[in-house]
Amino acid sequence: MSSEIREITRFERIGAHSHIRGLGLDENLKAKPVADGLVGQIKAREAAGVVVRLIKAGKMAGRGILIAGPPGTGKTAIAVAISKELGKDVPFVHVSASEFYSTEMKKTEALIQAIRKAIGVRIKERREVLEGEVVGLDYNMVPNPYNPTQKIPESATLTLATKDDKKTFSISGRLAMTFMYQGIEVGDVIMIDKETGRVAKLGKTEKTAKKYDIGFDEIVDVPSGSVEKEKEFTYVVTLHDLDEANARSGSFLFMLMPSKEIDNEIRNAVDEKVKRLVEEGRAELVPGVLFIDETYLLDIELFAFMNKAMESEMAPIIILASNRGFAKIRGTDIVAPHGIPLDLLDRLLIITTEPYREEEIKVILEIRASESGVTIEKDALELLTQLGVKNSLRYAIQLLAPAYEFAKLRNSRTITLEDVKRSAELFVDVNQSSNYLKKWEDKMLM
Ligand SMILES: Nc1ncnc2c1ncn2[C@@H]1O[C@H](COP(=O)(O)OP(=O)(O)OP(=O)(O)O)[C@@H](O)[C@H]1O
Ligand SMILES: [Mg+2]
Repeated sequence: MSSEIREITRFERIGAHSHIRGLGLDENLKAKPVADGLVGQIKAREAAGVVVRLIKAGKMAGRGILIAGPPGTGKTAIAVAISKELGKDVPFVHVSASEFYSTEMKKTEALIQAIRKAIGVRIKERREVLEGEVVGLDYNMVPNPYNPTQKIPESATLTLATKDDKKTFSISGRLAMTFMYQGIEVGDVIMIDKETGRVAKLGKTEKTAKKYDIGFDEIVDVPSGSVEKEKEFTYVVTLHDLDEANARSGSFLFMLMPSKEIDNEIRNAVDEKVKRLVEEGRAELVPGVLFIDETYLLDIELFAFMNKAMESEMAPIIILASNRGFAKIRGTDIVAPHGIPLDLLDRLLIITTEPYREEEIKVILEIRASESGVTIEKDALELLTQLGVKNSLRYAIQLLAPAYEFAKLRNSRTITLEDVKRSAELFVDVNQSSNYLKKWEDKMLM
């Protein structure tokens, strides 16, 4: 029963693009017909591949991409694939333009926060550490001066060994306490930051883990080299992370403030600090991607703000997606291609997507079904494909979930023709529903 429940929630939770693992290109940036969960849309995927190259080479900062095409042609899917290709060290922020309009903060503040979430700072730190396997640990216990019935470590003798080195240290009572609290024992591989005394348990050696057969710790190799060494730590934070951290330390009122708007002064201070770190070679800027979906919801003010932000020396790559043809720029009466102001449009590289062919729709449906752990009978897939051609790909994909519910009523994991028919009768697509609205217009509440 419980596994059944998990199965249901799994099916419902899988996002619309969870089947996408990447752009599915070969080493020459040629798109394979079906790969990484993507089907067809060859030109757009290859263009996206070039964009990924440019981003990784740091040649796209402050530039923008527009993915334009009819609804349901994979614009969002391709943006998701780009984020997968970039890897987890390059920030990728995915927002819908509607998210900028809230009662919590001004829309330009929301936009600037999104922009700063899309700019990473890779910080490199060299730290002096002691690293090795604990091969000896003896506490020197004395009665607690405040509670003589209790004993506490006054100091300890620690021996650390690597494959090539072995050293014994006398450690302070404070550090010995930390060891006790963390339950560090012989056979653990640990690292101690010499400056701060921070102790990190990296895991257990294989022979210790085998001996005690307790599976809670990770098994690690005994480190090589000397016990005392310098180690470089690299981590990526975003400008927004730094803004928030600074806002918090600046005033305790920040926590109490209802909105999370951040002072421009704080942002300027963060920028200065980051620039200094970059100049000193201790940090590197990692311009990431801000993907703004449903671009037609941006208004003229946001467009103007974005235009300006793209000129700044710390700017992310902006990717927009639009399914509009000629449309009014929101907040004006001006009609422009994709509803985007011409001065912005002018600096965008444009990728277009095209409607899918029947066979492509079929393969996408198959991939979606298998991603959800569902099988689908041949004639059922055929009908769904036809619904995809006649109505829309998205409609056909959406019918999978109710059809699977009907299959489950029969205790089956296989969708049949009947299941698809039943779902298509119960759920209509947008065109059918607008026809319905037209037909009953005078009877509906207005
Ligand atoms: N080429 C493809 N390969 C595999 N799956 C795809 C492909 N194109 C679209 N899909 C899937 O089809 C569904 C609809 O596509 P998507 O949401 O990307 O369309 P869109 O162009 O962004 O539409 P809209 O203009 O309405 O935002 C999604 O579940 C998506 O993952
Ligand atoms: Mg979309």
